[in-house]
Amino acid sequence: MKVAVFSTRPYDREFLDGANELSGSGHELFYLEMRLNSHTAHLAAGHDCICAFVNDQLGRKELEILAANGTRLIALRSAGFNNVDLDAARELGLGIGRVPAYSPDAIAEHAVALILSLNRKIHKAYARVREGNFALEGLLGFDLKGKVAGVIGTGKIGINVARILRGFGCEVLASDPFEAPELGALGGRYVPIDELLAQCDIISLHCPLTPTTHHLIDRDAIAKLKSGAMLINTSRGAVMDARAVIAGLKSGKVGYVGLDVYEEEEDLFFEDLSEQVIRDDVFVRLMTFPNVLITGHQGFFTREAMTAIAGTTISNITAFEKEGAPLYPVQVERRG
Ligand code: NAI
Repeated sequence: MKVAVFSTRPYDREFLDGANELSGSGHELFYLEMRLNSHTAHLAAGHDCICAFVNDQLGRKELEILAANGTRLIALRSAGFNNVDLDAARELGLGIGRVPAYSPDAIAEHAVALILSLNRKIHKAYARVREGNFALEGLLGFDLKGKVAGVIGTGKIGINVARILRGFGCEVLASDPFEAPELGALGGRYVPIDELLAQCDIISLHCPLTPTTHHLIDRDAIAKLKSGAMLINTSRGAVMDARAVIAGLKSGKVGYVGLDVYEEEEDLFFEDLSEQVIRDDVFVRLMTFPNVLITGHQGFFTREAMTAIAGTTISNITAFEKEGAPLYPVQVERRG
């Protein structure tokens, strides 16, 4: 199939070309660096499929342009599909494929890396030691063993976070409308969300972004936290209200924040903006706190995950070409 690949970085090309070659499918991949939006959608004209990433815009307007220009399949290189107008896609007869599981370990391990770095202040220690400053003031951490950790969303990623944190000797509490039997086997337990918020020293978010989870962590939720709690978000930015988090940091209610995602990240992440003025005041304010650690949506970025993402993306495209439906269609798997 002819595929227009949006938001391409050199690493995407490397892994997609590798998967295309390995599969022997012979898809024609046309790489575009720019994001997909209403101004760039026409560039996919004549391509049966477009391949998109998390910050590409797939609202009604973009989908209408794509469909009018011959696109039949949206192949997402992501698990999340909150950036797609599913109703519009259905009306326009567009197929949507996604990568439901590529390496839940990659994101789970990154969430735990944020917890460990924030706690033991590895990012500060690294900078200090390079400058010959070996003082320990300001680097005091806490033992993870015996702490109470909360996992919101115990799907593929959340359950792995629970497993790793149990390995550290944490008590694990969880919240999810669909309870996973594995949690009990790991020695964790489900509790109502308010209890989780009140009991936990560390809370890690692993639910998808849906109307229900939008700003799940808002002012009310923060008011219920144990004082000084650590919040980790590697799910989607808008699950957390960044302004409420800033207020929580200022009051001391929130003790630490680790983010791999941010509500307005599409204007920031995956780009080198080091020579530019960042105009997002909320993001800049977040970066000023000594107890905030932000990474630019890199949870998925391991060799294993990238290989799996590219492989499943190519399989989705091949299945659509041969059987008229992607291997992992979004509609079938839609939950909650
Ligand atoms: P999954 O679908 O396996 O699990 C999500 C879980 O969240 C499900 O068990 C679901 O029942 C639960 N959930 C839904 N609504 C909830 C609510 N209101 N409260 C608590 N739990 C709720 O998804 P998976 O693979 O574990 O991914 C989770 C999220 O992680 C994705 O939706 C995506 O947004 C994000 N993600 C981030 C990446 C990164 O690079 N930072 C990469 C991949 C995914």
